[in-house]
Formats: sequence, C-alpha cells, structure tokens
Amino acid sequence: MNYKIAVIPGDGIGPEVIEETVKILDKIGVDFGHSFKYEYLLAGGCAIDEKGTPLPQETLEACKNSDSILLGAVGGPKWDIPNAKVRPEQALLGLRGGLNLYCNLRPALLYEPLKDASPLKESVIGDGIDILVVRELTGGIYFGERGKEEVNGVESAYDTEIYNVNEVKRIAKIGFETAMKRDKNLTSVDKANILESSRLWRRVVDEMSKDYPEVKVNHLYIDNAAMQLVKDPKQFDVIVTSNMFGDILSDEASMITGSIGMLPSASLGDGKLGIYEPIHGSAPDIAGKGIANPLATILSAAMMLRHSFGLEEEAMLIEKSVIEVLEEGYRTGDIMSLGMKLIGTKEIGRLVLNKIVK
Ligand code: IPM
Ligand code: MG
Repeated sequence: MNYKIAVIPGDGIGPEVIEETVKILDKIGVDFGHSFKYEYLLAGGCAIDEKGTPLPQETLEACKNSDSILLGAVGGPKWDIPNAKVRPEQALLGLRGGLNLYCNLRPALLYEPLKDASPLKESVIGDGIDILVVRELTGGIYFGERGKEEVNGVESAYDTEIYNVNEVKRIAKIGFETAMKRDKNLTSVDKANILESSRLWRRVVDEMSKDYPEVKVNHLYIDNAAMQLVKDPKQFDVIVTSNMFGDILSDEASMITGSIGMLPSASLGDGKLGIYEPIHGSAPDIAGKGIANPLATILSAAMMLRHSFGLEEEAMLIEKSVIEVLEEGYRTGDIMSLGMKLIGTKEIGRLVLNKIVK
C-alpha cells in the first residue's frame, strides 16, 4: 500500500525527534512492503518566520490531502511575545479545528522498566498504570469566543467555555467505545458543581451510559480528579473530558508514568485522517543538543499505523522495540536513573531502529 504522510517537524526539538521517527517508518515500509511518501510542511514558529503566519494555507491544504499527519512540536521563547498577533500555537488549533479532529487520545502507560522514573511511590503504582485520556479537542474554551474590553473603565479580558450536545455526544461515544475495548471503566471529568457547560456534559454522558450498560461510569470534578490521579491512579481506565481539563490532566497523567518525553497522542475525527504527535512541547532549552527523547514521537508513529492505516502488527513491532531498548537499560536524560546507560536522541533512535525486523 502507498501512504502519503504530511510531516510537520515544527520548532525546538521537533525536527530532531521527527528525523528518528521517519527512519523507523522507512524501515517498517521496507520490511512490510508499504510505501510511505512524506511531504514536509511548515507550521508553528518557523512558519511565522518564513511566511508570516503559523499555519500557511498550503500546509492546511496539503494536510487535508494526505493520509495522515506526523507532527513534532511548535513554539518557543522567540515567538512568546505578549501582544503578538500571531503565535505558533495557533497552528495546532488551526489544524485541529480545520481538519475537525475532535478526539484526542492520550495513553498514559507506565512501562515496567521505567518504574523508577515515576515520582509516585511503588505502593501507589502497584503493578503498573494504564490510563487512556480521551480529550475533546475542537470545542470548549479553546474555541469559544474571547476578547478584551473595558468594564467600568477597567481593562478586562474573557474566554468562553461552550459545548453543544452534539459535541459532547461524539466525544462521549468514543469514551464509551474505547472503555468497552479496555476495562469497561469510564471516568467523566467536569466541573458540574459550577459550570453550566459541565452540567450539560454530565447529562449527555449519563444518557449515553444507558446504551453501554457494561461500562461503569464515574463522574469526578476536575479538582478531585487531579488529586485522585496522584493518590490512586490505578482506579482509572478511560478518562473522558473537555478540551482544557484534558490538556491539564494529560500532563499530570504523563508525569506519573515517568516522563512527558514518553507519551504519544492521536487526534482523530470521523475519517481515517489524524494528527500524531508527542504530547511534549518544543523544549527550546534542549533543542539542537541531540539529547531530546524521540520515543514519544516514535510511539506516535505507531499510533498512526494503527489508527489511520489499520497496520496493527507494524504498530506493535514499534512498541515492542521501544520497550526492549528500555529493558536493555538505555535512557535519554529525561528518563535517566541510577545504573542506566545515558545516550542521546540519535543513539536511542538507532537502537529502536535495529529492533525493527519483521
Ligand atoms: C497540548 C498543548 C497545546 C494545547 C498547546 C501547545 C496549544 O499543551 O497539545 O497539550 O494546549 O492543546
Ligand atoms: Mg498540553
């Protein structure tokens, strides 16, 4: 099969982690007889520099015409100007919204060899953590009306959290469907004690739960959920939540599994097209030093093979290869612990590559 992949390296460590990932996709292609054709595209800070806009129209069009999108990271201090009209992050929102990728899957898995990297006690971690955060991605406060105005002569600014029933239904459905394929345990996170939009969210989830009698549904307020995640992470299987709460909880979930440098993500809509990217940012402080962890991006490519192309065997081979390299004691700085072998981006990429044999 032929697959057209839009590749957006972006800023900071983005290009470094993408480079290692593309090598791995190439090897998968050779071994399994697939042809991956890459189209490299500009988005983020580098696009602001070259084109004056974070998401050039040709990038969005090329993404629409591809089979899937592999993204590194965008942003950096260079473009962090308080009153700037254009920001690198707008590229992400433009892609998510423009391609209608409303569902963001963020698996937080604690790999056995990385137990030491988790900040939680062994008694809390038990035999491991395996949580899937299902984050709504094209609605809520990220996309609601915002603005600045003078209120009684005082400078003010506002953002709006808004959800309609259909937006909640389609993401809740994915929450239930994925829970059915896992441990049938769904936690819906909201702030229904305060927010009207959360009360709508909760009602829709409850109504839908009638269609999935096997799934155990638990509603948690966001503040309690944030606490429970560090107190007793093993109670969670699938978490479904809004755009902003999902943004926050997925960072927290990633940290309890050891490092944000390990977590992949998939942003999906109704079709096969998706954006696959690590959940970490552009890490400008370590960019260009060859020390970034490429494993989250490599694991994102595995998600791409699985979700966009239906290539389960190939996806599992990548995941198995990553685990084996960790089991052999190789680590980048972010997941380093005593007695392990510290190596750089290219070295760990090559070790994973060497394991990719059909
Ligand atoms: C993420 C990031 C983005 C978000 C930022 C960079 C706009 O934090 O993908 O989690 O908030 O969605
Ligand atoms: Mg985030």
